[in-house]
Parts: sequence; structure tokens; C-alpha cells
Amino acid sequence: MVRVVRATQVEIESAVQALRDGELVAFPTETVYGLGANAQNPAAVVRIFEAKGRPPNHPVIVHLDSPRYLHRWVREVPEAATRLAESFWPGPLTMVMPRAASVHDVITGGQDTIAIRVPAHPMAQQLLTAFGGGIAAPSANRYGRLSPTRAEHVREELGEAARVILDGGECQIGLESTIVSFEGGGVRLLRPGSVTAAQLREVVGELVSGADSRSPRVPGGAPTHYAPTTPMTIVPAGEIDAQADAASAGARRVAVLAQRLPLRAHKYVTWINAGRRPESYGRDLYANLRTLDKAGCQRILVQAVPDGERWEAIRDRLLRAATSVAESDDGTSTLAVLP
Ligand code: TXA
Ligand code: MG
Repeated sequence: MVRVVRATQVEIESAVQALRDGELVAFPTETVYGLGANAQNPAAVVRIFEAKGRPPNHPVIVHLDSPRYLHRWVREVPEAATRLAESFWPGPLTMVMPRAASVHDVITGGQDTIAIRVPAHPMAQQLLTAFGGGIAAPSANRYGRLSPTRAEHVREELGEAARVILDGGECQIGLESTIVSFEGGGVRLLRPGSVTAAQLREVVGELVSGADSRSPRVPGGAPTHYAPTTPMTIVPAGEIDAQADAASAGARRVAVLAQRLPLRAHKYVTWINAGRRPESYGRDLYANLRTLDKAGCQRILVQAVPDGERWEAIRDRLLRAATSVAESDDGTSTLAVLP
């Protein structure tokens, strides 16, 4: 795996200039690449939505280099947020908090809350510190598509939309940040990520669960998200070879994302063994799906991943990317559908 941790001074200066000019800059974080704009320039933020083809009422995360200017964006920092920041910032955690009055509606989608993240990637830190302000950034992909985990994915997805693309190599985590919100002293997990529910509970105790009546808009509100263009089916773990054979009958090309090697040779099947470790499976997930999406196949079959919190973020993304979930022979689905 390639990790490029520093940008040159010239690269940072041109990125900062682009942000000041109201242009877009793509930059690496440890989760996925972001498509950034000056968060205090609403016209620049609108360009993000245009570039992504994203509906205008979806709020975006504001990235900061540290919590020191949090009060410029957040009206009131919940006590639990202070503790979570101490434990997980800089890092792959985003917190949805009450917005400050000066925050523009285009950032928050008109809601009374704002999502803030302090990323750890050294190049993101370099950029944020040099810029000296907040950078609004969603993942640097077209709306509903796979998030980019390498600079070349950003070029593929968004071509000319970003004036500068900072290349930080492969993202170490590869899945979007964990998102939490706060309700009457409690903490709710809105999007699972590499900061697990167990890690959150260690800091703040039990999490709030169940449907949220106030429902802030979070990813996956749309029926498919993080999705390849090839139809994708999740298949019970023990049936992946049989299903690959069935799906490739009649010389149809089939792609497989599995956690082991095939048990036998399959004709017409492109197979990726992504392994059994959630860290490396997650890091490579979007790059693997991109590879399979380009393999000229009629369907992608994904071997269902194990239960358990360490796989929760991966299960969540797979379920959102899938067009269908195959049932096992006994009629049960091996995947619990997350709330
Ligand atoms: O890892 C990540 O979080 C990456 C990197 C670039 O930081 N960003 C990212 O942004 O995944 P995006 O926009 O693709 O996903 C963030 C989600 C959005 O779908 C949005 O709905 C939700 O966070 N969000 C943003 N602001 C919110 C708010 N005020 N309330 C509830 N949800 C919010
Ligand atoms: Mg996204």
C-alpha cells in the first residue's frame, strides 16, 4: 500500500489559493477523499453539489484542523461531544451538533445542526492549517456512487471539477467516518464507521437507539448509495461458489467479491479474495468494487460478511450498494438489516 503523507509547499499553496478563489480542491483523509470548498463561501459550496450531481438539501461535513475554532461553527458543544473529541479527534469521527447562527444554510441543508470532523490525515491537516478556516467536503464521488479512496478515483469521478487534487495515496481506512448526533445528553450512531459502537460506548456509555423522529438527513436515505453501476447481490457465505456457477451459466460474466479463494475453477468468473480481516477488507472495499465494476460483468456477487460490530460499517455499505440480498437455502437472510 502506498501512503503519501506530505504535499509540497507549492501544492498546498495552490490548493489554498483555489479555496480562496471559490474553487474546489480534492484532498485525502484517512477515510476517503473529500471534495472541498471554503465553508464560508456559499457559492463555492454550491459548486460541490453541482460537481457531484447531489441534491441541494443534503448537508455537508465541515472539516477543521483542530477543535480550537469549534465555537465559530457550533452554538453549544454537548458535554459528550467534548469527551468524544478528546478520544477520537483528529480521526474518523464526525459529530452533528447545534449550528452557530452564522453558518450558511447550504452547509446544513437548512437544518439546525452542523456536522464537524477533524481528520487525521497529515495532508488534510496540512491543507486545513494552511487555509486557516473550515473546509466543507463530502466524499469526492458522483452522487450515489462509490467513494474514492485513491486520487485516481477522484479524477475518474469528477475529472475537471476540482482545480487541485492533492494525491495522498491510498486512504488507510477506506470507509467514510462514523457519524454521531446528540439528544438530551445521549449519543446516537447515525452512520457506522471505523470508530465502532463499542468504542463510542467506552467513552459515553449506552448509545441512543431506535428511530429518530427528528431524522437528520444522513447517507442511505436514498435507496442505493455507495453503489457500483453493475447490479450487485449479497450471497450467503457458504453459497458463493454455487451462486457464481449459477449466475455464470450461459457464458454470462460474473464478478465475485469473496473472503477466500474459490473452491474450484469457475469459467467466466472474475474473483477477488478480500480476506477475513475487517481492517483490510474495509480499506480495499471501494477499490475492489471499482475493479469488479470495470470487469465487464453482468452481476457482482458479494459473499456476506460476518456478524459483529467490527464488520458493521462494511455490512452497512454493502447493504446500501446492493441491489438485492439473496436468501440462503433455508430461506433466511444471513444479513441483519441495520436501522
Ligand atoms: O469520511 C467522511 O465522512 C468523508 C470525508 C471526506 O470526511 N465525508 C463524507 O461526506 O462521507 P458525505 O457528504 O459523503 O457524507 C456525510 C453525510 C452526508 O450524507 C450527510 O447527509 C450527513 O453526513 N450530514 C452532514 N451534515 C449533517 C447534519 N447536520 N445532520 C445530519 N447529517 C448530516
Ligand atoms: Mg458520500
